[in-house]
Amino acid sequence: MKLYNPTPVTSAVSFAGLIERIEILRSTLRWSSRLERPDIEKLLKQATTLRDEVMGLSHKERFVAAASATGEAGADEAVVEPVEMSSRERRQALMERSFIFEGTFGDNPRLLESLEIAEKAAPTDLPVLIDGESGTGKELMAKVIHANGLRNDKPFISVNCGAIPDSLLESELFGHKKGAFTGAANDRRGKFESAHTGTIFLDEIGELPLTGQVKLLRVLEAHEIQRVGSDEVIAVDTRIVAATNKDLRRMSQEGTFREDLFYRLSVIHVTLPALRERRDEIPLLVAYFGDEAAGQLKRRPLKLTPRLRDFLLHYEYPGNIRELRNLMYRLSCLAGDTADFAHLPQDIRPRPTGLQAVAAAGGKATVTDLSTATSLSEAKRAASDEAERAFLERGLQEVGGTVAELARRFDMNRSHIQMLLKKHGIHSKDFRNNRQADGK
Ligand SMILES: Nc1ncnc2c1ncn2[C@@H]1O[C@H](COP(=O)(O)OP(=O)(O)OP(=O)(O)O)[C@@H](O)[C@H]1O
Ligand SMILES: [Mg+2]
Repeated sequence: MKLYNPTPVTSAVSFAGLIERIEILRSTLRWSSRLERPDIEKLLKQATTLRDEVMGLSHKERFVAAASATGEAGADEAVVEPVEMSSRERRQALMERSFIFEGTFGDNPRLLESLEIAEKAAPTDLPVLIDGESGTGKELMAKVIHANGLRNDKPFISVNCGAIPDSLLESELFGHKKGAFTGAANDRRGKFESAHTGTIFLDEIGELPLTGQVKLLRVLEAHEIQRVGSDEVIAVDTRIVAATNKDLRRMSQEGTFREDLFYRLSVIHVTLPALRERRDEIPLLVAYFGDEAAGQLKRRPLKLTPRLRDFLLHYEYPGNIRELRNLMYRLSCLAGDTADFAHLPQDIRPRPTGLQAVAAAGGKATVTDLSTATSLSEAKRAASDEAERAFLERGLQEVGGTVAELARRFDMNRSHIQMLLKKHGIHSKDFRNNRQADGK
């Protein structure tokens, strides 16, 4: 018995179609009584192998490129002619198709790819698995899928699988009958029943203990639940979206996550990029969350000193978009008109740069560090140096890094400014880049 022709399939449309067909086949085979057991096993094995290969391909190959495959050709013969669109065009196209972004912001190609997958997956009932580091927007993406789907006027129920003690998991997900266990004072319905006709978002699915995984698998296969302590079978119709910051494929290989559940959940698999992999977005996100924070805190949009801007553009953001967003809110709340290093949380704040500036100026000790001054005159000189530096940075920011313009504006000698810039280790070109990065 042969399930598929292993010659390379070139169409992204056929890959997506194959995944769906295999998924249907796997489900059907579980209930089939006509085939012999060895045949069933052989088919399942072939299906799993092929599916593994397909899932191993990039999202672009599987789904996004499918959008550009010709509509007239049959699915299996369609040849993908990739149409290169700019990020702006792709976002625009989503908007024209009335896609609901739910506040998702950004033009990075990988983010757009995720949104385009979400757009295609949303109107189907196929399960979606979203993975990515903490703070990359997994829950937001789940809401995007729900909002663009046919169930968008029905409940979206979120369950944090990592936060429920093992002993309560079953009751939390499926409900319980009065008296089923100590403390079960009333009949109670679980999250699956609450999400009936809508979407259930299973967050931190990688934390689900193996016993819970078995029970979940049963619901996914049979679409019915039983409350704890009850014999009554209740049919549930819920769309499943799961999220994790773990590598479930690896966990399933290591035996800590059921492989069959992994495949069930990941018919559509979306991986959200870490912020450090989409650094091109940071200037936009800084401006976006700066404006959002100003709006919420009812204040004027924040200005940033060049060195703080530089820091924000180059910081690693282990907490991803959530960390960047929180930082902008913190800066907007704590700073007056202009934010600087002093307004950053202590644990990520860079050390004072006075001595670094000396090094940058070729080791000539012309700048004094206020924090290490050992006499009043030294402290005064340090304060004057700091004021001089701040003046130059603000001026350069205002004129977009053009020294000649700065000299004209403040009626100073150009070579004098050059000397001062050298003394402080300031590079005028850094201010030109900042203006471009901001799109100002
Ligand atoms: N692309 C984006 N545009 C705008 N806001 C975003 C984007 N991605 C994430 N956010 C915001 O960042 C914050 C974190 O997002 P979310 O809670 O969805 O992340 P998560 O991946 O579920 O994090 P965790 O793994 O820690 O639960 C939220 O405030 C969300 O609105
Ligand atoms: Mg989350």
